[in-house]
Amino acid sequence: MKITVVGAGAVGATCADNIARKELAEELILLDIKEGFAEGKAIDMMQTAALLGFDTKITGVTNDYASTAGSEVVVITSGLPRKPGMTREELIGINAGIVKGVAENILKHSPDTIIIVVSNPMDTMNYLALKSTGLPKNRVLGMGGALDSSRFKYYLSQELGCSPADLNAVVIGGHGDTTMIPLINHATWNSIPVTQFLSKEQQEKVVASTMVGGATLTKLIGTSAWYAPGAGTAAMVESIVRDQKKLISSGVYLDGEYGQKDISLVVPVIIGKNGAEKILDIKLSDTEQDTFNKSADAVRNMNAVLHE
Ligand code: NAI
Repeated sequence: MKITVVGAGAVGATCADNIARKELAEELILLDIKEGFAEGKAIDMMQTAALLGFDTKITGVTNDYASTAGSEVVVITSGLPRKPGMTREELIGINAGIVKGVAENILKHSPDTIIIVVSNPMDTMNYLALKSTGLPKNRVLGMGGALDSSRFKYYLSQELGCSPADLNAVVIGGHGDTTMIPLINHATWNSIPVTQFLSKEQQEKVVASTMVGGATLTKLIGTSAWYAPGAGTAAMVESIVRDQKKLISSGVYLDGEYGQKDISLVVPVIIGKNGAEKILDIKLSDTEQDTFNKSADAVRNMNAVLHE
């Protein structure tokens, strides 16, 4: 198994570190445009191999796409992260050029690959990667829901005083502060609806905290987060390479599901060796569907910028 991670910055390097620790690949290529940067990060990570006991061989390269040839999974994290006060949407201009160029270069050397797009604004970048590569929709996935759902579980666990691992909760919609939809009415704690244990006020607090989860960290850290994004991406990679068929909220191209067409949005997806193997079209209430449609409108407006 060969995996490539493009962008050796905070998220890319953390994702690579998770991939190596879990030994998801024999060969892992870390690629960055900044001279020597990926090489340095790769050597640093390889110097943990004796301590952590993994066998994955990590190689860092500067813009050398030939060395990524034959990758079965490619993660794209290249692009600018947001700074305090910025929205993910404000990154579109610069990141669209980066993601399109990277996706096309990757495809030249790994025509059978599955791509996971992390760069923001993720919904639009995932749509762009799909359109610019022409890959079938099961082979282009966006990471955002894995992160937002994990954040949702964290905030729920804080209110419930329980382990996040005992919770089932998903976020759908867009991967933006105002477009994501934490589905509180569908969330369960060991199969029991969490709404039985939380007041309306607590529920609203959890949903609001989840939606601004990224912005809260950007304010504290000065740039966007990387541990949970890196782990969320690695979880998707793991489900592909181990054919785990895990249900992970992910950005996928919708062709009628959830009443939407020609757009990439976050919905629950079964992820296996063929990438996005099945979209779970869960039954939403009228209010939830209405919110989903509004998120779709906002993302569609963003996508329109690509044609300007
Ligand atoms: P970073 O600045 O630490 O790393 C980005 C890396 O991309 C840099 O090392 C840079 O040299 C590299 N790069 C830029 N242009 C490139 C190109 N053409 N080819 C190869 N490499 C290139 O940023 P960070 O924090 O790792 O974030 C990366 C992206 O991921 C940002 O767009 C950020 O907004 C997004 N993000 C998305 C999340 C999600 O849930 N989807 C969560 C967190 C971040």
